[in-house]
Parts: sequence; structure tokens; C-alpha cells
Amino acid sequence: MDTKNSDILLRMESIDKNFPGVKALDGVSLTVRKGTVHALMGENGAGKSTLMKCLFGVYAKDGGKIFLEGREVSFRNSKEALENGVAMVHQELNQALKRSVMENMWLGRFPKAFDFLPFTSEKKMYEDTKKLLSELHINVDPKTIMAKMPVSQRQMVEIAKAVSYDSKIIVFDEPTSSLTETEVEHLFSIINMLRDRGCGIIYISHKMEEILRISDEVTVMRDGKYIATKSAKEITMDEIIRLMVGRELTNRYPEKVHEIGEEWLKVEGLTAEYAKLSDVSFSARKGEILGIAGLDGSGRTELLENIFGLSARRSGKITLGGKEVRNRNPRESIRNGFALLTEERRATGIFGILDILENTAISSLDRYRTGPFLSKKKMRKCTKWSIDAMRIKTPSQETKIRTLSGGNQQKVILGRWLLTEPDVLLLDEPTRGIDVGAKYEIYQLILDLAAKGKTVIMVSSEMPELLGVCDRIIVMSGGRKSGEADAKTATQEEIMTLAAKFA
Ligand SMILES: Nc1ncnc2c1ncn2[C@@H]1O[C@H](COP(=O)(O)OP(=O)(O)OP(=O)(O)O)[C@@H](O)[C@H]1O
Ligand SMILES: [Mg+2]
Repeated sequence: MDTKNSDILLRMESIDKNFPGVKALDGVSLTVRKGTVHALMGENGAGKSTLMKCLFGVYAKDGGKIFLEGREVSFRNSKEALENGVAMVHQELNQALKRSVMENMWLGRFPKAFDFLPFTSEKKMYEDTKKLLSELHINVDPKTIMAKMPVSQRQMVEIAKAVSYDSKIIVFDEPTSSLTETEVEHLFSIINMLRDRGCGIIYISHKMEEILRISDEVTVMRDGKYIATKSAKEITMDEIIRLMVGRELTNRYPEKVHEIGEEWLKVEGLTAEYAKLSDVSFSARKGEILGIAGLDGSGRTELLENIFGLSARRSGKITLGGKEVRNRNPRESIRNGFALLTEERRATGIFGILDILENTAISSLDRYRTGPFLSKKKMRKCTKWSIDAMRIKTPSQETKIRTLSGGNQQKVILGRWLLTEPDVLLLDEPTRGIDVGAKYEIYQLILDLAAKGKTVIMVSSEMPELLGVCDRIIVMSGGRKSGEADAKTATQEEIMTLAAKFA
């Protein structure tokens, strides 16, 4: 690409980074220009987050050089990075949940009441936060306690915080994985504003459509190595995928060969006590993959949660093979043969200090019982199955789960639930944060379960995924079921129309 040197904001040259047993970065380079959005792409575990953490001073790089506006820099911690105009929105949110929005916003740099006195001014903090949030059109009261807000709003606060440092470079590491559709649009308008101001934006996401929409340039990494940088206008989605996985991916969805059996799960008039869910009825067969479509807030997640006993039920009946099951709480549901993969896996699913084996085996301990003992050998065998089936990138089973890349952590949790061999598997956004290649493997596992006669119900915001994987799709709108469609014949438009029915 032909641009003046003065346009270059950031240049990372031949960056190396090793972790015990892993060469996470092997001579990776990246050039980011002023006023552009630079997408960083690669499979789960390719090294994207690690490269950004080396820039941001979270990790010390083992080799290579970083230049910011031509000047060599090496930040020892994130505070130094922020002071020098580099901000980052991390893949994993790390917020003080018991504190308010404004306290989180100014943590580590509380505004002083007077320059010469060590007092913080609550009033100034409130005013400044309010001003910032309203400039960005984020509708949140600065005094709200973080824990009281949905993840998507917490994510918007994090984004506002990164913007508030007035940085030259802002890194967004999978910012949209927990945002609603309207918030994604909102984020894109904030990014466009930052681009117009001349900032350099580094944008990491597994959502291909987003990349082509928002970015100017794309750099692809694979296995800790730099592969290529292309102009986003000149590259196609297929080409990016080929560079990412290093081979041709001919199909994005595996072939369906499973046979659908007798009616198995029946849900009648399900109405939640507090959540937005009213009078939902449907049935699902053995060996059927039932998709649930709908906009955010349409009651998709609430439906799964209510079936699983995570939220109070006002009325309704659930039967499995003609027998009523009450599923009053998750324990009872698991006993009845249900499993739920939650949408918020990072918050509700991961035991960070435990290793992969423990994280995998924890929900299927009965499988490993031999008399009064648990057989470690059996656990190893099942964990190996999970690692192989989803190509989880890890040096060993004893690796702590928190050292895995974000997408690989998700795969471990999915493996945990698949191993419980449930009769009814409830999946909430099963492929969120998962790269394109690994998605295929996960679809294959879902199809295998169906072929074994299990009933799978999956919520997804990605319409092509629902149409590609499911047999039938029910559509939610405003907490109610607005329609049903055969996945073989349905079109995206048809489903969108149903999704908007009571919205
Ligand atoms: N703190 C750590 N300790 C040990 N290994 C690590 C650590 N952080 C990352 N790794 C390893 O480095 C490699 C790259 O991980 P990284 O998180 O950068 O991937 P990524 O491209 O961001 O993937 P994803 O799309 O899943 O987020 C992985 O193999 C990961 O296991
Ligand atoms: Mg990552």
C-alpha cells in the first residue's frame, strides 16, 4: 500500500512472545495508519490478544520493537500505555462489579477536588462521567452499580472508558460478542467518529460481516505468525477465511444425515414470573435440531433459562416423552436430562484457576466413578475426546483454563456439556467468539448428537447459522412465539418479519 510514512501511527516489528510450552508470537509485524480501522484476524489461539497485550504493556514481549509515531516505546504496564495514548477494550471484561459506573470509569485516576489536597471530588466525577456518556449517547446513570446492568451495557461503559483517555490508538478485542444489534450500530458510529478524529483503531472480531463493514485494512495471523495484510475493499470473505485457516473451506455447514424421531419435548404455555416470556408453546422431536431466532430482548435466552429452571415460572407445563418434568432449578433439570450452555460463558462457566481436565469433567463426574473413587484415567480419556473433537489449542490437559485464548476457553465449556450426554441440550449462542474453522467442528458435534437421537435447541443471532444447522426454527418476538419455519425452505426475510411481529 502506498502511503506516506507520516501517516503511520503504530508499527510493531517482529514481535516474539513465548509462554511455557507455547510460542504465542513468532516475529509478528503490524502497521496501523492514522484515521483507519485495522482488523486483526486469525483462528482461536492465533495470537491476536497476545499481540495486543504486548502493545498495551500487559505482557513483556520477548523480542521485536514497537514504534508509536516513529518513536520507539515499550510500556511496562497498562498505565504507561494509557498515558502514552494507547487504550484497549479487553476481550474479558474486568470490572469492579460492586462499584458504580463512574468509579469504574475513573479507577486509578480519580479526579481531585483541589490540586493540592488528596481528596476525590464525587461531584466532579459524576459531572465528568455524565458529560462523557452523553457525548457518546450512552444512556446510563453514572451512579448505577455495575452488577445491576446487563453485560452489554457494562461493555458500553468499558468502551466509553477507553475513549475517555483521548487515545491515539484504541484496541477493541471482540467488543461486540456481548452487544445487542442496536449497540453494535452504536459502537460502529463511535468508531467512525474516532476514525474521523484521526485515531488508529485495531479491531478484533470473528464476525466476518463486521470486518468487511468497518475496517479499512485487514491483517491475518495464523499459529502465532504474520500471514498477510490486505485492503478491506479488495479482499473477499472467502479469501480471509483461506488465509486464516491455511486451506480451502468448501462448506461452512456439514451435511445433515440425522433422522428425526418421535415427539419428545413438549412445552405448553410457558410464562415467566418476572422475565419477559409469555405463553410460549412448542414441541421438539428426538434427533431434531430446533433453532430459536429473534432479536435481542425477544425472550430467546429467557425461554432457555426458564425451561432449565433458572428463572421463576408463573405457569406452563414441560413434558419429556409424555412425562411431566418440573425443572424447578438447574439441579433438577440436570437430573431430568437437560443441559444448558449459557450465553455468558465467561462469567458463569469458567473456573479460571482449575485446569482443562477439571473444567471439562466437573459436570459429568458420575461418568468417572469406579466404586467410591473417581477414575482419573476415564477423565483423561473424555478430556482428550473434547480437545480432539474441537481442536482445542492447548499444550496439555493440565494447563490452567485461564491461559487459553478466549475462543478455546469456550470450546472447553462446550465440551463439558457435551460430555454430560443430555437428552435435551439447550445451547445459547454456541459459536459466539469461535473462529470460522472451529465453528464447522462444533456444528458437526451438534449434528452427531442429533444423530444419536438427542434433542438440541439452539439460540443464535446468526441467521445463516440457524438456517444451515437446524431442522426447524421458531421465532420469538416481544417475549412471545411469533411463528415457526422449516429451515429447509425458510428465508432470512421471512424470519426477520416474524422477529419484528411483536417487537
Ligand atoms: N497467560 C498465558 N499463559 C500461557 N499461554 C498463554 C497465555 N496467554 C495466551 N497464551 C497462549 O498463547 C496462544 C495465543 O493466544 P491468544 O489469546 O493471543 O489467541 P487469540 O488469537 O486472541 O484467540 P481467540 O480468538 O480465541 O481470542 C494460545 O495458544 C494461548 O493458549
Ligand atoms: Mg483473543
